[in-house]
Amino acid sequence: MTAATAIAAERTLVRPLAELADAGLEVPVLGGGRMRHANLDLAASAPALAVVSTRVSDLLPWYSSVHRGTGYPSELATELVEESREVVARRVGARADDVVVFTRNTTDALNLLASAVPGEVVVLDIEHHANLLPWRERRVVVGRPTIEETIDALAAELARRPAALVAVTGASNVTGELLPLARIAAVAHAAGARISVDAAQLLPHRTVDVAALGVDYLAFSGHKAYAPYGAGALIGRRDWLDAAPAYLAGGGAVSRVEVGRVEWHPAPERHEAGTPNVLGIAAIALALEALDALGEADRDAHEHALLARLEAGVAGIDGVRALRGFADATDRVGIVTLELDRGSVGLVAAALSAEHGVSVRAGKFCAHPFFRRVANRSNGLRASLGVGTSSDDVDRFVEALATLVADGPREAYHRTGDGWRPLADDRPKPSLLRR
Ligand code: ALA
Repeated sequence: MTAATAIAAERTLVRPLAELADAGLEVPVLGGGRMRHANLDLAASAPALAVVSTRVSDLLPWYSSVHRGTGYPSELATELVEESREVVARRVGARADDVVVFTRNTTDALNLLASAVPGEVVVLDIEHHANLLPWRERRVVVGRPTIEETIDALAAELARRPAALVAVTGASNVTGELLPLARIAAVAHAAGARISVDAAQLLPHRTVDVAALGVDYLAFSGHKAYAPYGAGALIGRRDWLDAAPAYLAGGGAVSRVEVGRVEWHPAPERHEAGTPNVLGIAAIALALEALDALGEADRDAHEHALLARLEAGVAGIDGVRALRGFADATDRVGIVTLELDRGSVGLVAAALSAEHGVSVRAGKFCAHPFFRRVANRSNGLRASLGVGTSSDDVDRFVEALATLVADGPREAYHRTGDGWRPLADDRPKPSLLRR
C-alpha cells in the first residue's frame, strides 16, 4: 500500500479536539507564500490551549506579588496560586497528605526530588535525560525486548540490592510506549522502594491518578501540557520533601532568619523560594481542568484515530520504519519516531518545515541510551500529536515525507552548526521578531 492509498483508505476528517493558541497560524515557505502550520512537534513543547491563553490574558491586569503584598490584587494572586495547587492535586489524584511543589518544568521537579532521595535510584535505560541525569546514585536497568522481561529485570535488580526509589517514565518520548505503572509501583514497593513517574509525555495525553496507581511522586511540565508559561510541578509524599535541604534558598522558604540561624518552612514553601511564577502556575491548573473537560474517552478516540492514520501512512513509504522499544507494548500515546533507510533525517526535517510548513523534531530526543539501543541509524524523525491535531496535519506530514523520501528536497540546503538550513532562505521573519 502506498502512502497515498493508505490515506485514501481512511479519508474521514478528524478535527482538532480543542483549539490551541496557534490555530490557523501560517508559516512562510521557501520561494514565497505561506502555508498553514502543521505542528507535529507537540511532544517537545505544545502551544497553549486557546482557553488557557484567554484566561491568562484576563488574569494579567490582576498580576501581583504572592504571600507578601497587602493589596487586593496580591490577595487574589495568592489565592490563585493556592487554589491552583489544590486543582493540580485533585487532577492527578494526589493523596490528602501529598505535597504539590511548583517548579520550572519536569527537569527541575526531578532535580528537586533527586536532592531529597535518601539513597540509590534505579532507572530504566528508556528514560529521557531529565529522568536519568539528576539521579546522582543511579543504577540503570537496560530494557529487554518485552515489558514483561523488563519488569522482571527491574525486580531482579531491586532484589540484588535495595534502592530508595524507582524512577520511570509514564510514556516514552521516543516511541510513545506506555509502561504499566501500577505493576511497576507494586514491584518497587515489594522491594521497599518508592516510585516516581516522569509524566512529561503522559499527562498531556492521559488522566493520571497517583493514588490509584500507587505512585509516590509525579513530575510534569506545563509546556508539554498546553500551558507554556514556564512552570511545572512535583507532587508526592511529604516526608522526604520536608527532610530535604531547601532546593532553592531564599525568601518565602523560611519562617525565621537570624544572623547565625535559619528556620525553614516545611514543603512546599521550603522548595519554592522567591516570587513564584503566578501565571505559569495558574495556566497549569487551567490546562489540566480543560483537558479533563474534553473527556478521557474522546481524547483517546481522537488520538488513536490520528495515530492509526499516521502509522498507516508512513507504513506505505518505502525505506521508513517506526522505532519500537517493546514487542508487547499494547498502548501508546501519539508519538512516532521514524528511521529512514537512506539520507539524513535532519535534512528531511528541515525541508518538511521550509518547503511544506510541517514541524517535527529530528535527533535522539534527549534520550541517547534508549535511542542508541533501539535505532539502526544515528538519528530519528519524530512526529507527535495532541488535542490540537487534525487529520489534515497528519496527511500533510505523510504526503510531504513520501515526496521527500522519494525525490529529495526541491531546494538546496547546507549543514550548519545548528542543523540543516536552506542555502538561500527567503522566508520573511514576522514583525514581532524584527528589531
Ligand atoms: N522531552 C523533550 C522532547 O522529547 C526532550 O522533546
